[in-house]
Amino acid sequence: MNPAVQLGNFLTCEFASSDEWESFVDRFRKGQQPLPQAWADLFGPLCGGMVDDLVVIGQIGQSLDGRVATATGHSKYINCPAGIEHLHRLRALVDVVVVGVGTALADDPQLTVRQVAGPQPARAVIDPKGRLGADAKLFADDGVRRLLITVEGSAAAPPPGVEVIILTEEDGNFAPSAIVAALARAGMRRILVEGGADTVSRFIAARCLDRLHVTVAPVMLGAGGPGIALPPLDRADEARRMQVRVHKIEDDVLFDCDLSDQRIVIGTAKKST
Ligand SMILES: NC(=O)c1ccc[n+]([C@@H]2O[C@H](COP(=O)([O-])OP(=O)(O)OC[C@H]3O[C@@H](n4cnc5c(N)ncnc54)[C@H](OP(=O)(O)O)[C@@H]3O)[C@@H](O)[C@H]2O)c1
Repeated sequence: MNPAVQLGNFLTCEFASSDEWESFVDRFRKGQQPLPQAWADLFGPLCGGMVDDLVVIGQIGQSLDGRVATATGHSKYINCPAGIEHLHRLRALVDVVVVGVGTALADDPQLTVRQVAGPQPARAVIDPKGRLGADAKLFADDGVRRLLITVEGSAAAPPPGVEVIILTEEDGNFAPSAIVAALARAGMRRILVEGGADTVSRFIAARCLDRLHVTVAPVMLGAGGPGIALPPLDRADEARRMQVRVHKIEDDVLFDCDLSDQRIVIGTAKKST
């Protein structure tokens, strides 16, 4: 077994030069092997799907006490600057970044790559009731594809140019597999589910993630937005132990969790990018 995937094995993330990063992004996106070693341990597992053609990654940044935001909903920034850079690197490696409407309303994120070099991913918001205004930053017309996932007849009024994906809800929930399949039909092969915790939790519960990056910052927020929430277990020993790679990112600790052994088969992207 590769020692890097043993539970509890610590790897230190050595920050390589920006040239090495640009070379890594280029080779990664073209599917060229070998990948430059400086980044391969951290991002190599995102290159190809283990279960099908798609790679679906969840991410969450949280405090030591398991919070993703304060009680007022403020979350900028729980993680250290290098942790934010890590998030931008993830964005640069995927075809689309997906957020729930709760995050879009609370943070009005741009979802662009700004801290590092790399291409801009498409941006998608899951907004069944059409609560997000047309002036949301993620809808900004900057040449990148923007997608709205909603229901037929919702109140959504996105600006021109936003692609609208219509799905059917069941008990207030779009099946995450239907979201991934719809994005795959739109040509998205690598998908980053960036938050919030509610959205990421739905993808975990539906077994639709290949990997989950949890970046833990050495702070405690007390009360506030809860982290991942899944159906309850009766006993602690029923919890599934997962393979993880652990990286130190400055002050933060990144748990790169391999969920591929429980991921359901979803499909193939219309065209791989
Ligand atoms: N620390 C971090 O890494 C991080 C990252 C992102 C956000 N945040 C923080 O987290 C908070 C927002 O997160 P949140 O967990 O409350 O909300 P969220 O996950 O951003 O959005 C949840 C909402 O999105 C819609 N949605 C998501 N998945 C859906 C599905 N499968 N089917 C149908 N609807 C779906 C629903 O909208 P409706 O309610 O309209 O049905 C749901 O209530 C903010 O405070 C933000 O600052 C932290």
